[in-house]
This record gives sequence, C-alpha cells and structure tokens, in this order.
Amino acid sequence: MDNVVEEMGMNMGQTTGMDTKRWVVDPNQPPAVLRQAVQEAAQLLQQGEVVAFPTETVYGLGANCFSSEAVRKIFAAKGRPSDNPLIVHIADEAWLEDLVSDVPEAARRLMAAFWPGPLTLILPSNGRVAPEVTGGLSTVAVRMPDHPVAQALIAACGFPLAAPSANRSGRPSPTQAEHVLDDLAGRIAGVVDGGPVSIGTESTVVDVCGSNPAILRPGGITREELEAVLQQPVETVKADAALAIEPTAVAGRDTTAAGDGPADSEASYVPRSPGMKYTHYAPRGEMWLVCGTPEAMRQRIVQEATARLREGKRVGILTTEEGIGAYRQQLAGQPVILLACGRRREPASVARELYGCLRQFDAAGAGVIYAEAIPEEGIGAAVMNRLVKASGGRLLQA
Ligand code: TXA
Ligand code: MG
Repeated sequence: MDNVVEEMGMNMGQTTGMDTKRWVVDPNQPPAVLRQAVQEAAQLLQQGEVVAFPTETVYGLGANCFSSEAVRKIFAAKGRPSDNPLIVHIADEAWLEDLVSDVPEAARRLMAAFWPGPLTLILPSNGRVAPEVTGGLSTVAVRMPDHPVAQALIAACGFPLAAPSANRSGRPSPTQAEHVLDDLAGRIAGVVDGGPVSIGTESTVVDVCGSNPAILRPGGITREELEAVLQQPVETVKADAALAIEPTAVAGRDTTAAGDGPADSEASYVPRSPGMKYTHYAPRGEMWLVCGTPEAMRQRIVQEATARLREGKRVGILTTEEGIGAYRQQLAGQPVILLACGRRREPASVARELYGCLRQFDAAGAGVIYAEAIPEEGIGAAVMNRLVKASGGRLLQA
C-alpha cells in the first residue's frame, strides 16, 4: 500500500523577494553557535524586521510588540486579518509591568504553576503595546514560552515579541522550520531553526479578566490542570458563544480584513477571542471527523473511503499507530493516503504530529479526508478542537 506522500513546495502567493535567513541551532552544537544565531536574529528584530523562532508549542513569527511598523509586517507576511490580535511573548515576569495594568489573583496562581509554558493569559492592557497587537481590545494576551531558543531570543531583543503562529493565514501551524519556510520563505527576514517542537499544538488561552477564568482556546495546558490549580471549575467558551459576547464599542476601528480571511462587518461587536471567528485551517480536501468506538470508526471509514475511491476521489485517512494496520489490511492495494498520527493511547503524541499530517494531506492532494476522533481528555481536547475546526463541522457518528 502506498502511504508515502510526496513533499511539495507549498509556498503560496507572491513573495516579497526578501532573502530569508535560516539559522540552524542544534542543541548539540557549541553554545557559541547558538549565541551568534540568536544575536543575529535579535539584531534584525531590533531593526524592525520579523523573524520566526521555535517555541515549545509551534513556531512563532515575532516582531517588536511596541512598534506598529514592525507588527504590521507580521500581518502582511501571514496575510492575516488585521483585527485578529496577537500573543505577546516575554522572557521575564517582570516585563509584565510594561504591558498590563493589573495582574488578577487567578493569573498570579496560573503563572506560578505554568510559566514558562504553553499558557497564554488575557490581561488588562496598559495601552503601551502597538494597537495592531490587540486589534482594538482593552486586553492583551501574554505568554512566557518554555523553549531555550525563544527565551534567549526574547532576552537578547530586550523587548517582548508579538508572535502569532508562523504560517500563512489558513494553513496549519508550523511545527518545524521547514513548514515555516514552505509558507513564508521570501516574506520574512529569517527563521531560527531549533528542530521539531515538543508539544505541536498552540498554547491554552485563558481569560482571567472576568470573575471566572475561562478557556478561550484549549491547548497545551489542560482544563484539568487549570482546575487543579484554581480549585474551581473552568468553563471552555464555545466558538459560537464567543462570537456573541462583549459588545464593546470600538469606534473608528478598521475592521477590514487585511488578507485572505473574511472581513468583519460587525464593527461594534468584539468577539471574546477574535481568532475564533475565523475558520483557521481548512484542508484543501473536504475533511470529515468520524466519532465512535475504534472498531466502529474504522469500519465506517473503510466504507466511506471505498465509496469515494469508486467515485475516483483521492482519499486521505488520518488514524493512529494503533489503527493503521486495520486499514492496511482492509484497503490493501488501494491508493489511499494513510497517515498514522501518533498513538491513540498517548494523546500528546497525536498533538505533536497533527499539523504535520494535515500538511502532508494538502501536499499529496487529498480530495476528501476521514479523520478518527480521539477521546477529549487532557490534551485530547485541544486536538479535537483543531479537528472540529479543520472539518468545518462535518461530523459522522459511526
Ligand atoms: O502557542 C501559541 O499560542 C503560539 C505560539 C507562537 O506562542 N501562538 C499562537 O498565536 O497560536 P495565534 O496568533 O495563532 O493565536 C492567538 C490566539 C488567537 O485565537 C487570538 O484571537 C487570541 O489568541 N487572542 C490574542 N489576543 C487576545 C485578546 N486580547 N483577547 C482574546 N483573545 C486574544
Ligand atoms: Mg495561528
């Protein structure tokens, strides 16, 4: 069975023709090599350029958060709608003073437990970051990444880095430098290549401004972990609900989409987490999320795949190491793009490999993709959140 897919250049749209530097920083290299790469990258950031760098979650595309001109280059390189705000990355908790007007008690406890790490906190802004960072909101998203290269780079800059994931808008987040270059070569000043990331799914975004902390985006820190520290239930705001809340008037704010995302016509309503109103990543093929017991899912997927193959479609199947044998057997000889994404019994491994697999389906030209659901426990909740979004709500109950 042919389950090997070709890697293709995925560079979309026109580049600016910029020479994109790549610094490879292997942990086995002498520290001087890392120092020099970090210094060169920091110098470009100090000159107002944008540079991609590894974090423990996904690669970020950084710029000086206090410079409108620099931050605008992020939106231009990504083709990102200008009203979708960015996370500000700090190297030291003391830097919060430059960013926020208050640190609520819940935030203090979460910072003590999870920073540095994959947790982003929504805090009241003191208005000093460039307005492009917050997209007109009165809050600012802050995180301290737990990655030696990210920490060294931010410290060398001497200012916090506003950084979204380093992908073109609408593409899966990058989990290795190659993904960054596929999307952004020729559009950014450089990428610090620290190898594959360890978590592979974005940080958990928690709003600590209200009376009850709420998860705006599930991610690397699980709801269970947050509840254990806060000693209270923590709700996860559903994407639909997030669209309807916070009727904050932001008079005169330019809400025109800057890139390939949809324009926002509701100028007077700010979603609680603006990222939620955009379909983030949608595969080029039609993706279906299949739920049920492992046996039922596999039976249904084999059925569906067989029917689609007969229609002449190029079919992709997203399973795990536990499931791949069953498909190999039942679809033997069929030209299916079959990918094992980690191990079902170890959801962290699924999180780590998910975005790479989604990129492979696009590269292989899958016309229709069937993805197995995984249990929504721990980081499985973040994986399912991304799969539901990628499938645009196309669910099959097996
Ligand atoms: O793991 C991560 O969080 C990665 C790495 C690079 O740190 N970054 C990342 O950034 O995923 P981005 O831009 O792809 O996602 C930021 C999310 C969006 O959903 C955005 O709407 C939300 O954070 N966000 C940013 N500022 C916000 C604010 N003030 N209020 C509510 N949501 C906010
Ligand atoms: Mg992103």
